Amino acid sequence: MTDTIHPVPEAAAADTRTTLAQYHDRYARSIADPDGFWREQLPRLDWLRTPTVMGNWSWDPVRIRWFEDGMLNAAANCLDRHDPAATAIVWEADAPGAPGRRISYGELLEDTCRMANALVALGVERGDRVTIYMPMIPEAAVAMLACARIGAVHSVVFGGFSAEAIAGRLEDADSRFVITADEGRRGGKTVPLKACVDEALDTHATAQVEAVLVVRHTGGKVAMHPDRDHWWHELRSQVPATCTPEPMNAEDPLFILYTSGSTGKPKGVLHTTAGYLLWANLTFETVFDYKAGELFWCTADVGWITGHSYIVYGPLSAGATILMFEGIPSYPASDRFWQVIEKHRVNIFYTAPTALRAVMRDGDAPVLKHDLSSLRLLGTVGEPINPEAWNWYDRVVGKGKLPIVDTWWQTETGGALITPLPGATPTKPGSATLPFYGVQPALVDAEGTIIPRADGEEISGNLVLLASWPGQARSLHGDHERFTQTYFTTYRGKYFTSDGARQDKDGYWWITGRVDDVINVSGHRMGTAEVESALVAHQDVAEAAVVGFPHDIKGQAIYAYVTLNAGIPASDALLAALRATVRHEIGGIAVPDHIHITPGLPKTRSGKIMRRILRKIAENDFASLGDTSTLADPSVVEALIEGRLNR
Ligand code: WT7
Repeated sequence: MTDTIHPVPEAAAADTRTTLAQYHDRYARSIADPDGFWREQLPRLDWLRTPTVMGNWSWDPVRIRWFEDGMLNAAANCLDRHDPAATAIVWEADAPGAPGRRISYGELLEDTCRMANALVALGVERGDRVTIYMPMIPEAAVAMLACARIGAVHSVVFGGFSAEAIAGRLEDADSRFVITADEGRRGGKTVPLKACVDEALDTHATAQVEAVLVVRHTGGKVAMHPDRDHWWHELRSQVPATCTPEPMNAEDPLFILYTSGSTGKPKGVLHTTAGYLLWANLTFETVFDYKAGELFWCTADVGWITGHSYIVYGPLSAGATILMFEGIPSYPASDRFWQVIEKHRVNIFYTAPTALRAVMRDGDAPVLKHDLSSLRLLGTVGEPINPEAWNWYDRVVGKGKLPIVDTWWQTETGGALITPLPGATPTKPGSATLPFYGVQPALVDAEGTIIPRADGEEISGNLVLLASWPGQARSLHGDHERFTQTYFTTYRGKYFTSDGARQDKDGYWWITGRVDDVINVSGHRMGTAEVESALVAHQDVAEAAVVGFPHDIKGQAIYAYVTLNAGIPASDALLAALRATVRHEIGGIAVPDHIHITPGLPKTRSGKIMRRILRKIAENDFASLGDTSTLADPSVVEALIEGRLNR
């Protein structure tokens, strides 16, 4: 294992808000005296009523509350308290030549107020769920903040998901309102967002959805449903420019965000107002050591939790200037990230390992031709970073002089939990290093017993957390029982992350990846069960089993084993149809990289599919299939291997 220690770069150590000794002190304090620690953090937010109670939580039964007697408004914290003349958003279009935008905090506040008023005019009330399906444009942030301002709960659906996926999320959230745009742009292509919403509403939840607010972005032609659809630019001028923020209780829901699990439909992870916002704010400032006037760029999409916490709520609550980019790293060429950094003089850059691996293929030249001297800090998130990618990031992008923060967290954690602090923590390529304040990771064995670790020893196991932190998700929308089952039942009274990890001799944490049936494709979670049910939606499919397998760029790719109904021959046309079915049911990101048509699947005598064997075969690792004697029909394995070798 790579265990090279990179000391904190000199410049970062010389100018940091946290030294290593301070980190250790503050961490120890946050565990020994959480009430005192969190009370000191309260001034980070503007409260309408300052809380007197800090954490008040139980994980058995599950009931999580932070700052419960406090009142505040998240949008007011992100807007009203900042200098209206300061720049909030620097927006860079998909195409390099296209005009960008600069939006001040004053303008962002006015836009948010106007959209909030428009939502109220359309009938949105406090507590209503509003579904947001937007491209990466400032109005995506405006839409989220407009909901927060009036106490509505946003549910952002990533713009790459299909109409079917939107419909499922609309229904689950019982959402009667949608905010979308005519179209988005990505990599030179237009993304038909409004048409996708129309399809979702026409085929599914039509009756339930009362109003669709449409932002004009590309100007592309879209159908407008007379009683249902409204142009934002038309309503905008008809509503007042100010809107009093709704006083919210600390534990009122702020948003729902759907994410994949190992079983069933995506889960609507519920985050509430005060704890989430405080966590986003504190981790943003501390992990990125953000200083006033700097330009921060997180390359995630607002459709994921990374976008929620480190494009919208963290940076904007801190009054930071963010760069928002509509495009992708490879368009028009693989130097796009570096070109944008040079153009806008970006100081802090936060991206996913998969994006680095994708651009690394083209070598160092695309990076070296740009002046990246504005960069002060680099970060990664979403999946374990392989040491090759870390070293390349360090050497070529950071010139060996910049701190790299590898931040481990999840949709359910609200913000970073295991991460270096840039001016404090020596790093090791591939390790997320040490826990953030208030976070108590531990490793357990299969029985849930905490694995003890002596000083200087290395241990591995399943990663659990032993105590709540303010940013923790509170529930799953409409299904608290499933919340309890999913996270707190495997190891009763502990939060199970579903990640495997090891802790090395220095106490550093290394996340090894999911131990459940979730595949991490390009930093995005995909449930194998979801892809399987999408495949069996095709009339010719009898059964499907999906596993992940290692992929150079995506980290993991999707490998699908499919058995066909009797008499149906395999063909290229059928394979294409299966891919189209998955694209239709979920979206492009779920389309399998390999589809393996097989006469049978390896099952135990009780009918359980043995995924362990399927994973090995997908990896071309036939030597370690393990015991296959318990299979109902051991010959299936021979057929699978033959099928694998023949492709
Ligand atoms: C899963 C959560 C965190 C926001 C983006 C993904 C994996 C995330 C890291 C990291 C190793 C990581 C884990 C986790 N993961 N960050 N720095 N090192 N693994 O959020 O979609 O909820 O996925 O992503 O497996 O459980 P998500």
